[in-house]
Order: sequence, then C-alpha cells, then structure tokens
Amino acid sequence: MGETQTLDLENLDNHLERVTSIIGDYIKHISDAPVVTQTPMEDIRDSLFEDMPMEGTSPDKILDQVEKSFKSVCTKIGHPRFLAWITTSPSPAGTIGELLSVGFNQAPLLYKGSPPATILEKVVLSWFAKLFDYPDTWGGTLVSGGTVANLMGMTVGRHAHAPEVADRGMQALKKPLIVYVSDQGHMSIYRSAMLLGIGHNNVRSVPTDNECRMIPEELRRMVEADRMAGMQPYCVVAQAGAVSTGSIDPLNTIADICEEMNLWMHVDASYGGAAMISDNLRHLLDGINRADSIAVDPHKWFFIPLECGITLFKNKKQQKDTFIAKAVYLGQETDWDLKNTNFQLSRQGRALKLWFAFKTYGVKRLAEIVDRNHGHAKLFHKLTTESPNWEPVCGVELSMACARYIPDNCCAWSEAELDNLQVAILSELEKSGLGFMTPARICGKGVIRLCVANHRTTDDDITLLFNFMTETGAKLAAQHA
Ligand SMILES: Cc1ncc(COP(=O)(O)O)c(C=O)c1O
Repeated sequence: MGETQTLDLENLDNHLERVTSIIGDYIKHISDAPVVTQTPMEDIRDSLFEDMPMEGTSPDKILDQVEKSFKSVCTKIGHPRFLAWITTSPSPAGTIGELLSVGFNQAPLLYKGSPPATILEKVVLSWFAKLFDYPDTWGGTLVSGGTVANLMGMTVGRHAHAPEVADRGMQALKKPLIVYVSDQGHMSIYRSAMLLGIGHNNVRSVPTDNECRMIPEELRRMVEADRMAGMQPYCVVAQAGAVSTGSIDPLNTIADICEEMNLWMHVDASYGGAAMISDNLRHLLDGINRADSIAVDPHKWFFIPLECGITLFKNKKQQKDTFIAKAVYLGQETDWDLKNTNFQLSRQGRALKLWFAFKTYGVKRLAEIVDRNHGHAKLFHKLTTESPNWEPVCGVELSMACARYIPDNCCAWSEAELDNLQVAILSELEKSGLGFMTPARICGKGVIRLCVANHRTTDDDITLLFNFMTETGAKLAAQHA
C-alpha cells in the first residue's frame, strides 16, 4: 500500500514565516501611494483568471504570485487618506488576533467545538453590554457586520412581536408588519425587511430635520396612521451614526414613543456605537440603553479587521426563543452553546481578534483616536465653512463631514452640473493616488463626504485633501463652457 497523502505541507514553518513577512511588509508600507491602485481592471483580471488547477504548485510559487498579482494592487484600506465608506484602518493587533483565529480554526457553535472561543465571545460581548449600559438580562452575538447585526435585531423583534410567524409563516398574520427608519436609514434595513418577508414597501421612511435626524412627531403620526389603516407597526430603527452624515436620531424621545406604542426599538449604531468609549461623545447616544436591540460594528470605528459586527439584546430570552434549534447529530448540548444565539451554525471565532486588539491598546487609547477622528471631521467642516468655494452640508456629530464645492460663477451651473462636479473632483482625487473619498446625496444635493475611522490620519492629511480638492475644483470649473 502506498503512503497516505494528506494535505500537510513540507516546510510549513517557512511558508508561515513568509506569510507573516508579506503581511508585515504590507502593513508597514500601507501609507505609500496610491491609495487605490492605478492598474487597469483588465490587467488585474488577466493576472488572476485561470482554470481550476488539477495538479498542485509549490506554495512558494503561489506566494510569489500573491505578492505580484494581489498584494501590489490591493486597495490600501489602512492608508491615512483612505476616508471612504465607513471602513476602518484595521489595527495591527487586530490582524494578529485574526491570524491566530484562522490558525486555530475553532468551531464555536457548541461549547465543545471550542471552549475558549465560546467563553471569549461571552467575554467580549459582556464588555459591550457594559459599555452600552445594558441590564444583566443582556444577550448578544458576534456577526459578520452591520448588515447582519441589523437583520438579527429586526428578526428577534419580529419573533417577540409575532411569534406565530416562526411556525406558520407570514401568512399567519392578518395585518402586515411595518418598520420605521429615518430617510437616512441604511439600506440593510430594507434588505432585512425583504428577507424577513416584510417587504421594502412596508419600511416607512420617516422625514428628518436639517441635521438629518428623525423627526419624532412624524414617527408618531406615521405609526398612528398605519394603525388606523389596519397595519401592524412593530419596529423602529433609530440611527446612531447615519451612513451619509453620521447623524444621531433623538434616542430618548424615540424610546418614549416605542414604550408608549409597544414597538421594538432597534438602534443601528454600527458606526456611531464607538462614541460610547469617548468621554466627549458618549452623551450623544443618551438613551441607547433603552433600545431592545443594538447593532454595533467593531470593524467600523473600533479598528478591528473585517469582519466583525455585534448585535446586543436587552433580553437574552427573546434572543434564545428566536434562534433555538435542536439537532441530534450535534451531540450533547449545554447552556453555553452559541448555536442558539444566532442563525448561523458553523461560524468563525471573531472574538479573538477583538479581544487581542482591546487588550493590546486598552480602551483609553482607542478613545483618543475616536476623539482625534472627530477633530478631523471638525477641521474639514471648518475649512469648508471658511472657504467661499465650499458649502458645508449638515454639522459634524461624529467623524463625518459633508460639503459641496461651489465654483466662482456658480449661477452658470445647473444643479445636475454641480452634482457632477463633486463626482469629478472625487474621481481626480482617486486618480492622483493621494486619497480616496466617496460622494453622498443629502437634502437632494450631491456632496463630497469625508468619513474618518482611521488611526493613521493626521490634520495634515485633511488639509492636504482639502487643498487638492479645492485646486481641482477650480481647474475643472475653468473647463466649464
Ligand atoms: C449605519 C450603518 N449601518 C449598517 C451598515 C452595514 O454594515 P456592514 O457593511 O458591516 O454590513 C453600515 C455600513 O456602512 C452603516 O453605515
């Protein structure tokens, strides 16, 4: 009989050493330009597309290809001037935790699938439950990110409100369920409504004020109107850090309405939840502890590498009632098992990277960066306020600032042309390799949006971007016929 072929590798240590050195080199040079590669998409495609390999190749050769065709064209998400979306610059300690997690490949679906990963998930969740001032009845789960964290909150809310759906489906309901979110609500609320069988059309878009915060009187009016019309309002999603502006809805007033009208209150604090670690910003989220569920993303403004989201529940019984499931093949179950806390069964252990990063830096150091990023947004807002060529749109609550470049002879420009100008400025910025920012649409206007969730950004970076965009705006405006 021939020797059994396993998948073990000769020279494993050498390969791992090379991998850590590739990653280390990538992180150490993360601030090099360009932020977004200038290599054309066709070239990247051609260098990576190939047929499924039937025979093996040495990992060393594959690592050569990784260096040449992958690493060299990566988007430098940790670059100090990567200020797009709400995608954090990951902390190197978080990366170490992630590498360990992948290496140990634990399966914390049952306690026996990983005693340490199971306990560690409870540990990090308990930190967040305390941070958000939840009572001892709290429950929670680690998920992939804000989208799933919102889905989890809305799912448990639906089960608490209409438990009959679990067995009999939505057809068990005589009145359609209705969800409320401000007109700044993240698209994941609509997607969750679609997945939960509620439907996009049953998500009400509640109007906002000049600072893009939900108007509570409008919420109350809409809930009453829906009840009169025979609908079944069940959930209000309050934004604590809306995706385009960072606006925070009036949480206490919304909590009053939810209590009075028997509605599930979910807070989407995917981004803004990090304000809770800052002594200067925490007060903005007053009332968040009154929510039935909260979504918060460590992979946004807590500097944890993708993917890492959290849903917290005020009442763990409601969470367990929603997700409880039995399967004989899993063997003996215990109260510690994570499988009844979440829809997913097999899951990555996400706690280790969060635990590693928080222990390495300590929350005080993370809070300093959160405050610094808030200062960056304030600086951008100040620069755009003081310049005759910029019009700030909305104030700064967290670490986002939005503004519109206004050319000297703006009367000669249509609204659509002004909108296009903002996009053109951002496109020139991206092509320059200097930075990467994205547009937003606020109060019907196309704007340039700065979002700083970045531990490497400095005031000089903000000034450099502002000057570049001001000069570019002037150049592009000069070409306007
Ligand atoms: C307010 C808000 N909620 C939810 C999400 C979705 O998060 P994720 O991309 O982690 O799924 C985002 C993403 O930017 C967000 O800004």
